[in-house]
Amino acid sequence: MYKDWNTLKADCMKCMKCELGKTRTNLVFGVGNEKAEVMFVGEGPGYNEDMKGEPFVGRGGRLLDKYLEYINLDRHKNIYIANMVKCRPPENRDPSEQEQDCCIEWLREQTRLIRPKIIVCLGRISAKRLISKDFLVTQDHGDFFEKGGIQFMGTFHPAALLRNPNNKPLALEDFIGLRDKIKEICEHTYEI
Ligand code: URA
Repeated sequence: MYKDWNTLKADCMKCMKCELGKTRTNLVFGVGNEKAEVMFVGEGPGYNEDMKGEPFVGRGGRLLDKYLEYINLDRHKNIYIANMVKCRPPENRDPSEQEQDCCIEWLREQTRLIRPKIIVCLGRISAKRLISKDFLVTQDHGDFFEKGGIQFMGTFHPAALLRNPNNKPLALEDFIGLRDKIKEICEHTYEI
């Protein structure tokens, strides 16, 4: 168990626990405020993220930033964003169960140190792993589930919204619900 963010990050950056370590350009540790009350968890880096070493920096990331801005959240200020796996799966395939198993301890350590009040799962990969294996985005998006003192909510993955823009209004409702939940249970997210 890590007590210190910089040591955690330094060890994680060297990780070669799975095959994805061999093909990465950059490990994508995460971005944001380590003291955030709200954490977002995506799936894994794509091409742009692997190049830049930051989560959600492609087209999907720009869409995510718009939703965040709508409810006064900012990836560099009052939230933290990470992924289920920290290295890019080749050809942007889904990360395998085994790759997720290798990587999840890093996410656990990040969560232990950040101690978020709310975790938002972006897409089915993180929602199935962190909320419930039966989670269905189309059915369960926007609902809050309490687990271990943390409120979890799953919503559409930004890339899925780019493929199917019909779901954008539903995603916006989820973000509005998130804003309400933040106002209800968070102390400093909207003060920063
Ligand atoms: N998709 C994800 O799930 N995470 C990223 O960082 C980029 C794209």
